[in-house]
Amino acid sequence: MNIIEQLRPLRAQINQWRRNQQSIALVPTMGHLHDGHLALVKHAKAKADHVIVSIFVNPLQFDNADDLKRYPSSLASDLQKLSALGVEAIFRPTVDELYPLGMALTPKIHIPALGDEFCGAHRPGHFTGVATIVSKLFNLIEPNIAVFGRKDYQQLLIIQRLVSELNFDVEIQALDTVRAEDGLALSSRNVHLSTEERHLASQLYATLKHIAVEAKQPQRLDNLATILAQAATHLGQSSLEVEYLDLRDASDLQAVRAGTSHAIALAAVRIGKVRLIDNILFELPPEP
Ligand code: PAF
Repeated sequence: MNIIEQLRPLRAQINQWRRNQQSIALVPTMGHLHDGHLALVKHAKAKADHVIVSIFVNPLQFDNADDLKRYPSSLASDLQKLSALGVEAIFRPTVDELYPLGMALTPKIHIPALGDEFCGAHRPGHFTGVATIVSKLFNLIEPNIAVFGRKDYQQLLIIQRLVSELNFDVEIQALDTVRAEDGLALSSRNVHLSTEERHLASQLYATLKHIAVEAKQPQRLDNLATILAQAATHLGQSSLEVEYLDLRDASDLQAVRAGTSHAIALAAVRIGKVRLIDNILFELPPEP
């Protein structure tokens, strides 16, 4: 496995693949890989001649220095997992390599509207950091496809918009969230949950599933505020502090409206020191 830390050898590897007219899939990650990441890698392997996984904890997308410091890392085990899957190249640059001018001076990409609500509102600058690093990776690697998980649904829509509006020649492929047996979405941050918090955390997905069931009932739009308020109360009673909880049109995260075919219930909660996000995407039956 070629472990690349600098831009020059990265370009050499990409050029070698390109000379042979072979396709490249990119899986961007911040490391501490779990089965959700590995599902993205397996998908990428099936879709392209070569797979490159980036491992980079991007400081530009952290609004909280403590969160960045606490972000889990397990490089040796990550490399072992990726090697077992037959990944040929890992790109793990240093911060200086990617941001030689530093965070303040580096040019940044802001995605208006889509990035301003939900996680964007609660983590100022987060999606600007994501859009900037993903653009850099696309420019450096020029992948044919890039694979992302639907757990970060708002991030996924932002990256799709980035690609369409900034004309990146890459196909974005999205995979469903991988979950533990009790429904909790796999996340690198789950390691910070205590045993009791881990138990309570399963209420997040259970509540989102309940909202989906309720929202599919006749006259659902009239009852939406009540459904959401009851769900938020339930989460609060389970010691999950709600940051946001809403139901939106899945295509653009705007309000559900006549003609919405797919809805998404999405939430962020805090449990102890850990912030969890999750969502459920579902088809809405047409209004009678
Ligand atoms: O989803 C993530 O892990 C990160 O936001 C990403 C896409 C790797 C960019 O740093």
